Amino acid sequence: MMIKTEKATIAFGGLKAVNRVDFQLEEGMLASIIGPNGAGKTTFFNLLSGHYPPTEGRVFFQGEDVTGLPPYERVMKGMGRTFQITNIFPELTVFDNIMVAAQRLNVPFEMSGMRKFLFMGKDEKSEDITNAILEEMDLTGEKYTMAGILSHGLKQRLEIGMALTLKPKLLLLDETFAGLSAGETKQQIEFVRGISDKYTILLVEHKMDVVMTLSQKVSVMHNGEIIAEGTPDEVKADEFVQKVYLREEI
Ligand SMILES: Nc1ncnc2c1ncn2[C@@H]1O[C@H](COP(=O)(O)OP(=O)(O)O)[C@@H](O)[C@H]1O
Ligand SMILES: [Mg+2]
Repeated sequence: MMIKTEKATIAFGGLKAVNRVDFQLEEGMLASIIGPNGAGKTTFFNLLSGHYPPTEGRVFFQGEDVTGLPPYERVMKGMGRTFQITNIFPELTVFDNIMVAAQRLNVPFEMSGMRKFLFMGKDEKSEDITNAILEEMDLTGEKYTMAGILSHGLKQRLEIGMALTLKPKLLLLDETFAGLSAGETKQQIEFVRGISDKYTILLVEHKMDVVMTLSQKVSVMHNGEIIAEGTPDEVKADEFVQKVYLREEI
């Protein structure tokens, strides 16, 4: 199992943004969590990545209990994520954005008052990694473009590229299709499909159509709970999902 939660709960005061969620994702899968705004999807991601500790429950990554581990330790174990609001540096070129991310691997940095070193393979240089990722992201043509002027779709792709410098096994993508034009969405679907044979991917989306064409497994979140789960066809056929969600065109 790549990732698993047991009765995971995150409460913000009286609000249970994530409520006793049992979730699991097998290695190699491309899965999605869908639900309307406010359902708890991003909070669930923050729980998986370690940005929010659970109020109750546990998180396991590749069989190991990581509930108490901070985000950077989960990253070192192979968990990569993007953020709904992209993290790119708009004034830097595409190349430099990825380079900065790649260099986090071999420069010492301060964390929790301790000097930590992250190592990558000795024979690989940040620049080689950067060029390989540009190639993989099909961004080589935009190498010297200032990131801030990229289309929204390419910004999202750059953000994924930055996460890939950390060589994740699991890639958590938070609303990577949000705000994309129809054409960009199509390209991004192909792109995610293309990288899905190398990584285990969990998408969070509120757009149902995108998820249905891409995912092997879909989990529907509503008020912090997973109310339905299965193949896209199973979820589409679920009466409760139909009643509550399809009508709302999430
Ligand atoms: N840091 C926070 N503090 C308090 N409430 C929060 C916080 N983050 C999210 N929430 C609340 O938790 C609920 C779920 O939010 P979120 O996980 O962002 O939903 P989604 O990503 O599905 O749109 C919402 O009601 C939101 O207002
Ligand atoms: Mg969200």
